[in-house]
Amino acid sequence: MSEVKKTGGLAGIVAGETKIATVGKEGVGLTYRGYTIEDLAANATFEEVAYLLIHGELPTQTQLDTYKKTLKALRGLPAPLKTVLEQVPKEAHPMDVLRTGCSALGTLEQETSGHDQVAIANRLLATSPSMLLYWFHFAKSGKRIETASNAPSIAAHFLEMLHGKPASDLHVRVMDVSLILYAEHEFNASTFTCRTIASTLADFYSAVTGGIGALRGPLHGGANEAAMELIEKFQTADEAEKALVQMLHDKKLIMGFGHRVYKKADPRSDIIKVWSKKLSDACGDNVLYPVSERVEAVMRREKGMFPNLDFYSASAYRFLGIPTPMFTPIFVISRISGWSAHIFEQRSNNRLIRPTAEYTGPQQRAVVPIGKR
Ligand SMILES: CC(C)(COP(=O)(O)OP(=O)(O)OC[C@H]1O[C@@H](n2cnc3c(N)ncnc32)[C@H](O)[C@@H]1OP(=O)(O)O)[C@@H](O)C(=O)NCCC(=O)NCCS
Repeated sequence: MSEVKKTGGLAGIVAGETKIATVGKEGVGLTYRGYTIEDLAANATFEEVAYLLIHGELPTQTQLDTYKKTLKALRGLPAPLKTVLEQVPKEAHPMDVLRTGCSALGTLEQETSGHDQVAIANRLLATSPSMLLYWFHFAKSGKRIETASNAPSIAAHFLEMLHGKPASDLHVRVMDVSLILYAEHEFNASTFTCRTIASTLADFYSAVTGGIGALRGPLHGGANEAAMELIEKFQTADEAEKALVQMLHDKKLIMGFGHRVYKKADPRSDIIKVWSKKLSDACGDNVLYPVSERVEAVMRREKGMFPNLDFYSASAYRFLGIPTPMFTPIFVISRISGWSAHIFEQRSNNRLIRPTAEYTGPQQRAVVPIGKR
């Protein structure tokens, strides 16, 4: 039992090998295929990063142009998928919309040798923003938006479909950086789910659909929404501090803080924080960012805890005019790249993922006839 307790939640367990990313390695931090997250966020675009994760190397200019052209051409939704999305109630959580949309697409464009895993990864990357925003506008106002578009990137496409007009360069850049930061994170819960499903030799869509389900919870992807719900309650930093101290006293979890693997800092948080500040300055905000900074300071002072990527992503997304329930779906749009890379890797050297458990249930016993129980 003590052994199981020590490894509760599989903490610290090396569950396999990967060539895709390192998380929190001493002196290395977060890297995708050997590049640091700081380098990628400063010098690459999301499409370059997705290509890197999926194909193993950064693209040349020609490869990138072809990749972007391919993704652009895949943004339209098949009619039966639109019909499915129109049936999803407006009260549904957008994560459920993506989970349903991914699964439905898997029935329409099944995985075959002619429609292989790379084609599906491309299609899911290109259509996930389309599915989300097609449903969003239809559920909100009955409007059937056109999702095929000439917007130059996934970030631009998403913001253009959301707001009905092209976004500013600053907004597109922040969205793009955020997609880079969310793209990949080694053996986290959703990626491990994808790999476990892939290890049974199930199809690609099943693996991604499972990943979306795992990502939905507030201990994982859902933390960015929960962080927003917390910080938007406060009108001033002092009010936030008072409430937070009480919450900590009451042993409440503060979403957007802490991490299973990082012990001192989440390198992604420093990057998104800078962009959140830029957006805050650009729109003359004097509430959300100061409240966020105070929450961070109180968490450091009271608990020695640091913000993870989800914390400042929340304010950044709010400054981009994104509704809170779409925060985790954006994580999906980005993470499809990392999940795809992991499904490919799992399949390339597969062994069924099937651990064992230490049994702690009743001793062996006989079935008592139902009339005598
Ligand atoms: C990410 C997370 C699940 C990691 O969990 P973990 O490695 O299992 O760590 P634990 O839950 O065992 O936490 C260790 C201690 O720190 C506390 N703690 C961890 N995260 C905390 C948080 N965000 N707020 C307040 N206390 C926290 C726990 O209550 C626990 O305290 P205890 O020892 O007194 O019981 C956890 O930090 C958390 O729930 N964070 C909030 C959700 C979140 O932001 N998730 C996104 C992750 S990228």
